[in-house]
Amino acid sequence: MVTLKSAREIETIRRSGKITAKVLTDLMKAARPGISTAYLDEMAEKGIRGLGGIPTFKGYHGYTASICTSVNDEVVHGIPGDYVLREGDLLSIDIGTTFEGYVSDSAVTVAVGNIGQNAQRLLEVTQECLMVGIAQMQRGKRVGDIGAAVQKHAEGHGYGVVRELVGHGVGTAMHEEPQVPNYGKAGTGVEMRPGLVLAIEPMITEGGHQVEILKDGWTVVTADGKLAAHFEHTIAVTEDGPKILTLRSFGEHPEVEKYRPKEEAIV
Ligand code: MF3
Ligand code: CO
Repeated sequence: MVTLKSAREIETIRRSGKITAKVLTDLMKAARPGISTAYLDEMAEKGIRGLGGIPTFKGYHGYTASICTSVNDEVVHGIPGDYVLREGDLLSIDIGTTFEGYVSDSAVTVAVGNIGQNAQRLLEVTQECLMVGIAQMQRGKRVGDIGAAVQKHAEGHGYGVVRELVGHGVGTAMHEEPQVPNYGKAGTGVEMRPGLVLAIEPMITEGGHQVEILKDGWTVVTADGKLAAHFEHTIAVTEDGPKILTLRSFGEHPEVEKYRPKEEAIV
């Protein structure tokens, strides 16, 4: 069942999203050579709790950390640990906050120190994929329009689109209906209306789109060992177009301003 959220619920998700955005910004700045992924996880948990939130991922299907940290050929769901970041790594950080019962979910890929040109281009195109997906979140359009737009952008640049994992509805649960694939056919799927809140999260690969799961049962890697990138925002469809509820003031695509939600003191 797809649930539409009230203005008040969207406002609560936005407040949840402000915590996610602030802590993610701090993590992006901290992700430098010599820092362990476990340290980033500790920062994330302290940061989220310090702002009155709960780390959504912790305990989710037995997941033990507050964020996912996925390096280089790791696509998503990498578990923070002893790994120490190195110059040239491509790091994806995925984070979720629960605040007053409402979830926000966001992810970015960042360069650790200087990265190669190929990695930089993959990162940029994946962020653009998120933007073209968000642009489709208009009343009357369908969820398939998002996937079709993301796929066209990624494949147009010669990249692969991961099929096994998808975006999703967001609300009181992290994963609600509908599923939001990053591929598909325009004009198909659930019709979007004001009140629909989705997490769009393109996972884009430098080579083939096939993935495997490591023996830890979580970490998704590219089958061919090539690089992957991942960007995610939680976005509401409103009367006034899409509004990004996890918008940061750092490291965003230059065109996000039109998607900035109004600061409303409803609650
Ligand atoms: N944020 C991921 C998603 O977008 C989920 C993380 S899996 C978890 O669906 F186990 F770490 F929570
Ligand atoms: Co998600």
